Amino acid sequence: MQPLIAPSILSADFARLGEEVNNVLAAGADVIHFDVMDNHYVPNLTIGPMVCKALRDYGVTAPIDVHLMVKPVDRIVPDFAAAGASIISFHPEASEHVDRTIQTIKEHGCQAGLVFNPATPLHYLDYVMDKIDLILLMSVNPGFGGQKFIPGTLDKLRQVRERIDASGRDIRLEVDGGVNCDNIGEIAQAGADMFVAGSAIFNADDYAEVIRTMKQAINA
Ligand code: DX5
Ligand code: ZN
Repeated sequence: MQPLIAPSILSADFARLGEEVNNVLAAGADVIHFDVMDNHYVPNLTIGPMVCKALRDYGVTAPIDVHLMVKPVDRIVPDFAAAGASIISFHPEASEHVDRTIQTIKEHGCQAGLVFNPATPLHYLDYVMDKIDLILLMSVNPGFGGQKFIPGTLDKLRQVRERIDASGRDIRLEVDGGVNCDNIGEIAQAGADMFVAGSAIFNADDYAEVIRTMKQAINA
């Protein structure tokens, strides 16, 4: 599958969010990664469906990849679907009924993803490989941008890549946390095909140069 760069708007200037999103898309981003934190499942508080809808109303047509770091999960899903989310991913430990949550996301017309924290075992995949559209491996503990990539994620990526290939389905393999121009090449080698990057893109002066460098490293 064509590799996708998904800038995390967590590191964008929230006072100029619409402009930031348009700038990063013009710079070559494929997808907008939208981090939702609830100060309960993770120790930080960010943005909700109203902000997603505001981006759609502002004219953003690119896919919006909603990463839910919230507990409970289910009741916010319809709101995000109505607000224009394209993909909705959740952490299985935060849902009482993982299969039901996946079903709810799909019934609302979105693609469904499962997110694994660095220490979350992969067994949550056992009975849902035929239902999910995306697997997101966290390469930092969720809650904050700007953390350091946890190297053990590479091995986990290889394991998930094998499971995806064995399934024969087009499941995206996304990685999130500490991704930058220096490590994105080996992350791609390990099997990822969708790359979230927050601080590496938004802390740079030239978004296009970072995204171009990242794409070159992925394809090298
Ligand atoms: C962390 C978030 C990430 C984060 C990535 O909980 O899910 O999306 O913003 O930011 P960087 O790329 O700075 O690690
Ligand atoms: Zn995220």
